Amino acid sequence: MQINVVNHPLLQAKMTILRDKDTKSVTFRHIISEVAALLTFETTRDLPVEEVKVTTPLCETTGCRIKGSVTVVPILRAGLGFMEGVLSVIPEANVGHIGMSRNEETLLPMEYYCKLPADMDAYTIVVDPMLATGGSAIAAIDQLKKRGMKNLRFMCLVAAPEGVEKLNAAHPDVPIYTVVLDDHLNEHGYIVPGLGDAGDRIFG
Ligand code: PRP
Repeated sequence: MQINVVNHPLLQAKMTILRDKDTKSVTFRHIISEVAALLTFETTRDLPVEEVKVTTPLCETTGCRIKGSVTVVPILRAGLGFMEGVLSVIPEANVGHIGMSRNEETLLPMEYYCKLPADMDAYTIVVDPMLATGGSAIAAIDQLKKRGMKNLRFMCLVAAPEGVEKLNAAHPDVPIYTVVLDDHLNEHGYIVPGLGDAGDRIFG
């Protein structure tokens, strides 16, 4: 199983607040955005840079700037809860949107919207707080690749082993970053212990 679990005390402490069933939407929204910003640091560790010259008040030295563009693609709707946090640290990023709704009986994803920026070569971060069966992430990434995107990584909050294995098998070129890798999926396709339905907890 290929997965990057970002085991940082700040992230894990915030994750505990998100798991708490008594955390209200207003707090949940705020914390999930902070988590997304912190997680973006690790997810973008391989972001390409190019060398540039910079003159400090004392002398000329070398620094760097991000090479190429960055796109963030939230999987609607829970992915929107992650978008603001990513944009707070990469404000120049473009944003694509893909809508996926999981049928709660069959657990199969259905695409209902897709609008992407023109730059298909961008360094792209697909975001969705939950990776459960993996169906939504796989279908979204299938669609992004079909439309020409190639440089993809997937960032989530909570992953289930079942979803990680499926996503690894379907898209071995797409690294996965998560705050926690949970125990299992229950018979309704919910991640256990998880945090419930992320979309409902963000949007009410
Ligand atoms: C949830 C979640 C993921 C998906 C994960 O979305 O936000 O997109 O389910 O499940 P999977 O890995 O089994 O596909 P949902 O379909 O509930 O839609 P929402 O974001 O609009 O709440």
